[in-house]
Amino acid sequence: VEKEAIEKLEKVSNAQELEQFRVEFLGKKGKITSLMKNLKNLPPEERPAYGKRVNELREKVERLFSEKKKQIEELLERERMEKMRVDVTLPGARRKVGHSHPVLKVMEEIERIFVSMGFDVVEGPEIETTWHNFDALNTPEWHPARDEHDSFYITDELLLRTHTSPVQIRTMLERKPPIAIISPGKVYRRDYDATHLPMFHQVEGLHVDRDLSVAHLKFTLEEFARRMFGKNARIRLRPSYFPFTEPSFEVDVYLSGYGWLEILGAGMVDPNVFLNVGYDPEEWTGYAFGMGVERISMLKYGITDIREFVRNDVRFLSSY
Ligand code: PHE
Repeated sequence: VEKEAIEKLEKVSNAQELEQFRVEFLGKKGKITSLMKNLKNLPPEERPAYGKRVNELREKVERLFSEKKKQIEELLERERMEKMRVDVTLPGARRKVGHSHPVLKVMEEIERIFVSMGFDVVEGPEIETTWHNFDALNTPEWHPARDEHDSFYITDELLLRTHTSPVQIRTMLERKPPIAIISPGKVYRRDYDATHLPMFHQVEGLHVDRDLSVAHLKFTLEEFARRMFGKNARIRLRPSYFPFTEPSFEVDVYLSGYGWLEILGAGMVDPNVFLNVGYDPEEWTGYAFGMGVERISMLKYGITDIREFVRNDVRFLSSY
């Protein structure tokens, strides 16, 4: 039995065969167990020696069995690890990630251009007082921009800012000239069609120093246009009206194939605005400008419907 058991155990190579072996030799009806059962058929004086030998055999086979069991478990573990092996040199499955919205990209491009010319970037609140949004900007009660139809009022004295120009006021109240800032952000107007969104983005600009003139304004905006639309871009100033600038201009850029297109409003800071923030208009001069970021994005990329920006169609968004 011993020889048979050792030979069989040597051939065992997996968990199933091992279990078969256990049943065959060590189980309740197994070969070693039945050897023990023979005990009662032997004459009493032979029983102790026989029993001892069978027990020794059982112990030996059990020991060999558990060694084999350990070997097989190690083998299984190794196979399992082998299956989990990861080849870190294989190319990965690329996951699609989003990117900045085209309006945000253009806004950052505008910021970069002005920052490189020495302007600081500042931000202001989207909920404004009527004083910052209108009064301090020399916009009297009767001006159409104060009409309910254009603005989202929260209370009599609070509204969603209709432009970024109130940041001019906040900055001049906080700082002393000279000042050169731009202020990007969201603005709100009650309008919705192919060229208007109720929420859109502007970048405001303000430069205050001694002896600034329209020449400084024009150079700065021309430099901006060249950097934004290409080095052949030209601009022109048309007379216009804003309550907070005098003189005021609409600024057009010339794009070949399109002709003259309006890109922003600008002007020399009105002396009344300086008085409202406690600056002496005899000492300080300044120019200011404000541009619509969606509009500039549309010109730059030939987009004809402003609503594309808020439709969230990935086919549109991912092409910029
Ligand atoms: N705030 C004006 C607008 O929203 C633009 C502007 C800014 C004009 C600064 C002149 C100076 O239309």
